[in-house]
Amino acid sequence: MDPFYLWIALFCSGFASGGAIQWLGLTVNGSSVAWNESEHCNLLKGLVPDQMQLCRRNLELMQSVLTAAKHTKHACQMTLSDMRWNCSSIELAPHFTPDLQKGTRESAFVYALASAAISHTIARACASGELPTCSCGAAPAEVPGPSFRWGGCGDNLRYGLQMGSAFVDAPMKSSKFGTQATKLMNLHNNAVGRQVLMDSLETKCKCHGVSGSCSVKTCWKGLQDLPHIADELKSKYLAATRVMHRQMGTRKHLVHKELDIRPVRESELVYLNSSPDYCTQNPNLGSYGTQDRLCNKTSVGSDSCNLMCCGRGYNAYTETIVERCQCKYHWCCYVMCKKCERTVERYVCK
Ligand SMILES: *[C@@H]1O[C@H](CO)[C@@H](O)[C@H](O)[C@H]1NC(C)=O
Ligand SMILES: *[C@@H]1O[C@H](CO)[C@@H](O)[C@H](O)[C@H]1NC(C)=O
Ligand SMILES: *[C@@H]1O[C@H](CO)[C@@H](O)[C@H](O)[C@H]1NC(C)=O
Ligand SMILES: *[C@@H]1O[C@H](CO)[C@@H](O)[C@H](O)[C@H]1NC(C)=O
Repeated sequence: MDPFYLWIALFCSGFASGGAIQWLGLTVNGSSVAWNESEHCNLLKGLVPDQMQLCRRNLELMQSVLTAAKHTKHACQMTLSDMRWNCSSIELAPHFTPDLQKGTRESAFVYALASAAISHTIARACASGELPTCSCGAAPAEVPGPSFRWGGCGDNLRYGLQMGSAFVDAPMKSSKFGTQATKLMNLHNNAVGRQVLMDSLETKCKCHGVSGSCSVKTCWKGLQDLPHIADELKSKYLAATRVMHRQMGTRKHLVHKELDIRPVRESELVYLNSSPDYCTQNPNLGSYGTQDRLCNKTSVGSDSCNLMCCGRGYNAYTETIVERCQCKYHWCCYVMCKKCERTVERYVCK
């Protein structure tokens, strides 16, 4: 066992049941069952009672929750693959390392993404007829343009938001979970995820008419794909605001750490504790470090060798890639290609 993982296993087992995103661990056991018996809700340790009840009463939703967990993990890692913190620790779900446990900027991103993903998946599942409890979204209230009419089957965002928020917000409403500040942070970021999802709703159309003349168009409201939503959230992640928990009047609120007069905006991701720079390995902070990470010598962004390797420098190596090339179409009907070898130079951080 890698010493880093061993450390995690030893130290995190004690507080493994802290995160409100434990349901992301459904990908471990959740794929093996049909989700047609309420016993299946016990497959995942760490659901809070309200989530357990939602599961039992809405078993048919659980396939979507499982899909959302898979999509969250994938989108998180794809979107942040050029960053020092690249979301690899999400694979440990339902166990988490400190990078996702301590009210960090990274957990703000993951909560928002997971919250968007669950509502997204349910909204889409309604439209594709996979769920007995919902169907297409209601036709928009807006008057259609001159060239089209509402029709088709829109994503059921309303139902997605309703069920999704009930599921992801439940841990913060249960008394056991976390401090008041963490609860407020997580609830806020969950809502930001849903807002980005709502903003992604766009009008999609299909043409009808003689031989595709498009004289008649049918349009509906559909959500953009999750990678697009993850990209939006990445911008918010990079611009996230550090907040603190403060008495204001009779209630406690999250306020800016620096400018403590300005209330937090509903559109910004917030976090309570600053993160390490993720340059060097430090299990205590949930940092894997960037040694051996690939970097891009010509990039000037976060994946540049300078930023990714934190100024430590990099090693170059060459890799031979075998590709299909000079493909020729032969009548009739096959394609023949040659195999070409190409060497590429790659750089990894020292
Ligand atoms: C659930 O689905 C499995 C596999 O399709 C089946 O064997 C089992 O009988 C089902 N259980 C119930 C309670 O319908
Ligand atoms: C998966 O199921 C096994 C056996 O029931 C259980 O011990 C384990 O904790 C489960 N894993 C997760 C991630 O829930
Ligand atoms: C993410 O970072 C980890 C730890 O440094 C590394 O092992 C992994 O290959 C990286 N993933 C990608 C997609 O770059
Ligand atoms: C490296 O970055 C440059 C500039 O951003 C980009 O055009 C190129 O495709 C990247 N190379 C790789 C291997 O990702």
